[in-house]
Amino acid sequence: MDLDIKGNTALITGSSGGLGYASAKALAEEGVNVVLNGRNTEKLKRAVSDLKKTATGKVIGIKADVSIEKDVVHLVNRTVEEFGTIDHLVTCVGGPPSKKFMETLGEEWHKAFESLLMSVVRLTQEAEEHLKENGGTIVNITSISVKESIDDLVLSNSVRMGVLGLMKTLSRELAPEIRVNAVLPGYTETERVEGLINQSIERGDISDYQEGVNKLSKDIPLERIGKPEELGEVVAFLCSKRSSYVTGVAIPVDGGWSRSNL
Ligand SMILES: NC(=O)c1ccc[n+]([C@@H]2O[C@H](COP(=O)([O-])OP(=O)(O)OC[C@H]3O[C@@H](n4cnc5c(N)ncnc54)[C@H](OP(=O)(O)O)[C@@H]3O)[C@@H](O)[C@H]2O)c1
Repeated sequence: MDLDIKGNTALITGSSGGLGYASAKALAEEGVNVVLNGRNTEKLKRAVSDLKKTATGKVIGIKADVSIEKDVVHLVNRTVEEFGTIDHLVTCVGGPPSKKFMETLGEEWHKAFESLLMSVVRLTQEAEEHLKENGGTIVNITSISVKESIDDLVLSNSVRMGVLGLMKTLSRELAPEIRVNAVLPGYTETERVEGLINQSIERGDISDYQEGVNKLSKDIPLERIGKPEELGEVVAFLCSKRSSYVTGVAIPVDGGWSRSNL
């Protein structure tokens, strides 16, 4: 299927690894010029160099912490300086720590709010004038935790609901020029999931990594955790002309894990 987005420009945040990187890869292999982003310079450089091996569009990296307002302004301005506009904004950021409610400090709530929600608010505010120029798209990478809460992830279960409310509001306010959708990953093989499994090992809930993967896979109808590229392909579809009548939806990419009827 031709996604018909060759030559467009995409800014994908939190994309020096994991799901953001997989989304950038899917777009870059369709001939889209992509901006990768992350906080760690070396990791970002490695990601740019890896992606250049298969990209058919241009690839650059811009270091920025999307939970900080001035970094977001810099990220959007540098993207426009480099490519002239932004056609696709894909918002992604590292997940919050795995904790129970009574272990979670006030400052951690503030941090999660700035990182998970305010990053999306600021990125959208800064990019909107560029996105609307040629009929752009926004895809918010959030979590299946908005459909079904996940044990020991109170920050994700709570704060990400705000991203969904924002996505739905924007899909109406920014229409018809900009389409806005979300993807809800379930368990997918990235450093984030490795980190969550390691935190379970430290808590004594499980004894090793494989036990962690088996435990996560047990409740998934497709009997395995996902691969990052399986999420990236859905993001690329939502950015493309092939989804031209789709806006305001949140698509689970979870192997059927969520039991929610809606
Ligand atoms: N993987 C899963 O199973 C899964 C399931 C549901 C939801 N999610 C959510 O989906 C998102 C992506 O997950 P992932 O598994 O890809 O995570 P990951 O493997 O930890 O990758 C996160 C990426 O974002 C960058 N990043 C983190 N914080 C950032 C910030 N403040 N500003 C800019 N870049 C930042 C990281 O690089 P630096 O550290 O160098 O900045 C890294 O490149 C997370 O919010 C996660 O909670 C993941």
